[in-house]
Amino acid sequence: MLIDAYQRRFTYLRLSVTESCNFRCTYCLPDGTDCDSRAGELTLPEIRRLVTAFARLGTRKVRITGGEPSLRKDLTEIIATCKAVPGIEKVALTTNGYRLQRDAAAWQAAGLDAVNVSVDSLDAATFHLVTGQDKLADILAGVATAKAVGIKQVKINTVLLKQHNALALPDFLSFVKQQDLSLRFIELMRTNDNLSFYQRQHLSGASIQQQLETQGWQLLPKGISDGPALEYAHPHYQGRIGLIMPYSKDFCADCNRLRVSSKGQLYLCLFTDSYQDLRSLLQSEHSAPLERFLQQALAGKAQSHQLQQQHSGSTRHLAQIGG
Ligand code: GTP
Ligand code: 5AD
Ligand code: SF4
Repeated sequence: MLIDAYQRRFTYLRLSVTESCNFRCTYCLPDGTDCDSRAGELTLPEIRRLVTAFARLGTRKVRITGGEPSLRKDLTEIIATCKAVPGIEKVALTTNGYRLQRDAAAWQAAGLDAVNVSVDSLDAATFHLVTGQDKLADILAGVATAKAVGIKQVKINTVLLKQHNALALPDFLSFVKQQDLSLRFIELMRTNDNLSFYQRQHLSGASIQQQLETQGWQLLPKGISDGPALEYAHPHYQGRIGLIMPYSKDFCADCNRLRVSSKGQLYLCLFTDSYQDLRSLLQSEHSAPLERFLQQALAGKAQSHQLQQQHSGSTRHLAQIGG
């Protein structure tokens, strides 16, 4: 089992499969930020050995992240590989949606249970401005495809931005009115690369929370394996609205996740730049040394990221580690 000094159980692995991304979201990769190193990405056998060791230690869910995971030509095989590992019950993907329309059916057939798609604006021009890609219609068609091909759980991620989407709550609410999906507003997090953007655009999720509550949205009870999002439902809406508020709410006490970068580095928290290299341990089919290493590494996991006090972690940008 993976249990740390604070009695937290880690049953959820966030595995980045590439740092590379074909979008340039202003909050994530400000102009000129380099994230295109494809060298040294984990291979399929390394991914299989890694996930096997985690699963033997109690991991039940793998979320594949990036960069943009669909830039890997073998993403369908990666999904199938994760899903085939004994003990893994759920395989999820976080994507910008670029390949969703084309590949959702193949991913579902390979065993994908859930997909989270970034949609920061429902206005085409604003979407283009924020992501650098004029692709809103394609991404929304991809979301519809994901549901149509039977991916069980579809979530939308919307980073809260003062200038671009703060006043658009009514549009987002109408979007979820007739659709069985969860749309989560994420407080913009400060990273090493986005300081001036953060200062201009950061907005607390509390104002959205207040508006939801006055409009009759009700907080859903949280399951023990749920992530950082608070989820709200409304009797007149099929979809749900979520809030991920690392600045307003310290959810570290419920942390259930560990992260591995696309190069095989173990990060114990989203907001740290210290990591431990697992690469050499991924070269053998013999899982015990890797399992021992993971158990020992976990003893060093800090109690909290202290984001409320420090405002920033030392992560360069979230494409580096997959959010
Ligand atoms: P599920 O609960 O599996 O649906 O995933 P998620 O909502 O955690 O994953 P997703 O990849 O969609 O990430 C949504 C946002 O939550 C991103 O901005 C992540 O950086 C953020 N996030 C995920 N885990 C953590 C965490 O442990 N700490 C903080 N501060 N943010 C997190
Ligand atoms: N703050 C908040 N969310 C971010 N994401 C990327 N960078 C940041 C940031 N600095 C989001 C993406 C994606 C998710 C994995 O993380 O929009 O939906
Ligand atoms: Fe790419 Fe995701 Fe970063 Fe946007 S937020 S630039 S889609 S990694």
